[in-house]
Amino acid sequence: MERFDQINKDNLPTHVAIIMDGNGRWAKNKGKNRIFGHKNGVQSVREVTEAAAKLGIQYLTLYAFSTENWNRPRDEINALMSLLVSSLSSETKTLMKNNIRLMAIGDIESLPSNVYAKLNAVIKKTSENNGMNLILALSYSSRWEIVNAAKKLVADVKKGKVSADEINDDLFATYLNTSEIPDPDILIRTSGEFRISNFLLWQIAYSELYFTKTLWPDFRENEFYNTILDYQNRERRFGKTSEQVKS
Ligand code: IPE
Ligand code: IPE
Ligand code: MG
Repeated sequence: MERFDQINKDNLPTHVAIIMDGNGRWAKNKGKNRIFGHKNGVQSVREVTEAAAKLGIQYLTLYAFSTENWNRPRDEINALMSLLVSSLSSETKTLMKNNIRLMAIGDIESLPSNVYAKLNAVIKKTSENNGMNLILALSYSSRWEIVNAAKKLVADVKKGKVSADEINDDLFATYLNTSEIPDPDILIRTSGEFRISNFLLWQIAYSELYFTKTLWPDFRENEFYNTILDYQNRERRFGKTSEQVKS
């Protein structure tokens, strides 16, 4: 039986988040420069996005560029930004064909103006699509997001729109970039690193974590399905006992 058919379509994660890591090492292993790795990573983005949409996943978040990534060499940043623009252009038809809506989280106003404009154009063009939501985390860092949320909340308290007593988890979450998006059910990180790198710290409180040694450009459709199968064998207890969950 094909891996796709083995997946129980009634027990899919609603939201899959991925830290796409390992492009540089993938290229180095082949004696190529890092940019070659990023270019090949785009093919994995396409395959995984189409696989997720085909399965019926509702939200797929991809960590594409972190706030900390601004500290990389200028050449690499420029190459990543041009790759983003060219991929957004070439993938728009794939998004439309698969009924996918593009969204973005992060400090997207800090992106170069051509990237920002292209991103907004594709977000607008796909805004009526009602299949999967594809969320790109760009110039994103979770601490930035949380601090920003705190600032906006304080401003609303000062204006009298919110009273301090009303503040709870749910209210706070409405101030995050992800206010419209449920928490990830599973977080995947490729490339064998066991860290979170400032990604969705608030939102992954109860996510299942999945780490694989596979480098991002090698992470394709079948491995994505394997990950979903692994997820379906987990027992999510949310603090309860196994017996409580089963009954
Ligand atoms: C992930 O691959 C892509 C981005 C962070 C933009 P890396 O570029 O981090 O690849 P490694 O970790 O150096 O192999
Ligand atoms: C995390 O990867 C960010 C993205 C995948 C966009 P990094 O390669 O930048 O992470 P660290 O710095 O090695 O933890
Ligand atoms: Mg890396």
